[in-house]
Amino acid sequence: MAKRLKGSLKNIQFQLSVPGDKSISHRAIIMGSIAEGMTKVTGFLRSEDCLNTLQIMRQLGVEIDDDGDTVIIHGKGIKQLQEPGKPLYAGNSGTTMRLLSGLLAGQNFKSTLIGDESLSQRPMDRIINPLKSMGANIQGFANTTLPPLIIEPVEKLKAIKYEMPVASAQVKSAILLAGLLSEGVTTIIEKETTRNHTEEMLEQFGVSLNIKGKTIMLEGGQQLIGQDIDVPGDISSAAYFIAAGLLLPNSNIEIKNVGINNTRSGILDVVKAMGGKVFVNILPNHYSADISIETSQLLSTSISGSIIPRLIDEIPVIALLATQAQGTTIIKDAHELRVKETDRIQAVAKELRKMNANIEETHDGLIIHGSTPLKGAKVNSYGDHRIGMMLQIAGLLIPANETIELEDADCVNISYPTFFDEIERMSQTEKTDKN
Ligand code: S3P
Repeated sequence: MAKRLKGSLKNIQFQLSVPGDKSISHRAIIMGSIAEGMTKVTGFLRSEDCLNTLQIMRQLGVEIDDDGDTVIIHGKGIKQLQEPGKPLYAGNSGTTMRLLSGLLAGQNFKSTLIGDESLSQRPMDRIINPLKSMGANIQGFANTTLPPLIIEPVEKLKAIKYEMPVASAQVKSAILLAGLLSEGVTTIIEKETTRNHTEEMLEQFGVSLNIKGKTIMLEGGQQLIGQDIDVPGDISSAAYFIAAGLLLPNSNIEIKNVGINNTRSGILDVVKAMGGKVFVNILPNHYSADISIETSQLLSTSISGSIIPRLIDEIPVIALLATQAQGTTIIKDAHELRVKETDRIQAVAKELRKMNANIEETHDGLIIHGSTPLKGAKVNSYGDHRIGMMLQIAGLLIPANETIELEDADCVNISYPTFFDEIERMSQTEKTDKN
């Protein structure tokens, strides 16, 4: 589906809640399924990616009820999953395929994981290699680097000490899940600290971990006990409305109940460093906040090193902010963006350039010279939800007599099915210059 979007939005007063966190939603379904007893999940993200995880757990024999409000998982325990009758479809979701590989590697049945066209091109050797050294029998295509993945049962997995060559929470989580099914203590040494939702949730389900800096240790054979999980709003989805609040003239946006886990909140640090007026009101639960944003004059910044994993999914929208900031913004150490749902370094540079941005691609990042007024164009999401949503926000800034036509706009369903409805609701709060 291509979507025509109109720009020049201003004078906005808007309040919204963003849908549940994608990373936490996946993990709640997986851990609830392998726990003993019942898990209740509220705030679950019903997007394509997370529904694929839910569907796979059902195929593995787990009973999951969803009344549209609460998801109830009747946990089977980690060793009672059932052999699926057909290949397990992860769709577009790297999290689904990589985390479940770790879990399936230690089961006593065969399984096959497949994905859509984009996922079928994404590197899987990063999980295959450590899982093989744990004794797993896992094969991929293209010299065992790509999906589909075929996992055969083995007698027993063994714990390993693994120094991660990439900063990836998906890889870390796959090893931790396999570690639960292994004999001995699994040790992971992270390259950089990445999102820690797996560790936090394992602890909530009663698993004990030993975490010291970038080293995580987990003893195999521990049981998970069903829990109540309340999923906060996704900061990665909030990022588009944070950008809208900063960039739309004379505007004010408030986003309710956004998860602010420190391993995910790099965007808040960056927008503050850029001079953005962003106010974070932490809620009594301590893990989420109401975030208010006001129109701001932004300044350029430099982003590299250990902050990158804390904002990896927000880099496309940060690049958009940089096109409207005074000065030159440099983003480095972000080569991982080249192996996301699409090559995001290339997609951001190419599509924003069509809209008049002055932006250069480097091997591991972007150089963005601001500020340039954006103009209408025909742009492509490449089927990547984060590129699509960033381009929609960019489209709000173009002159009123121009349009952008966004190719493959329905990819937003991967993480934020109501995204365009919220944009519409936001547009309706526009006050004319007269009132
Ligand atoms: C995710 C980890 C990140 C992130 C992805 C979700 C997760 O990927 O980009 O959107 O839920 O663990 P990597 O682990 O590949 O860095």
